[in-house]
Amino acid sequence: MLKIIKDKVPSLRSVSKEVTLPLSDRDQQLLDKMLEHLKNSQDPSFREKHPTVREGVGLAAPQVGVNKRMLVIHYPNYEKEGEYVSYQLVNPQITVSSLKKCYLKAGEGCLSVDQEHPGYAYRAYRITVKAYDALKKEDVEIKAKGFDAIVLQHEIDHLNGILFYDHIDKNNPFRQENGAIEV
Ligand code: CO
Repeated sequence: MLKIIKDKVPSLRSVSKEVTLPLSDRDQQLLDKMLEHLKNSQDPSFREKHPTVREGVGLAAPQVGVNKRMLVIHYPNYEKEGEYVSYQLVNPQITVSSLKKCYLKAGEGCLSVDQEHPGYAYRAYRITVKAYDALKKEDVEIKAKGFDAIVLQHEIDHLNGILFYDHIDKNNPFRQENGAIEV
């Protein structure tokens, strides 16, 4: 089982390195293990057997001790029943970000953060991400908004050593930003 690194570990704060393509078997295996971890984490019976495993929708390689620009995302597609939003992204780049912001009303969580950090983490409402998707085995351009955009930005932040609570205003954690959309 993958060991998730917590936020006191310095490597989680460093900028990760670009991945060489075509993807090595070793990198593909790591992405497969990471995706499997997310799927297991969403299975209540698995969590019952492994109480230390927390439920998650995204995981970046630095969180499992590998400082490479790779991440996985997996959760049910709320717009299409039975389908999943599922990616294994390599060298993702945000090419477009809207000025319009959004935030998760319930606050963000992170498998590497055990303490509570109440407050709003403002993110771009719409983004475009370019990456190699090792699930589809092709270059992809993802246009995302709202929750989907928040998850992508949260995971890409990990590749730059940034954690969600870095975005929370320390002096006014629930500060309301004009025009920001609640998700
Ligand atoms: Co995280």
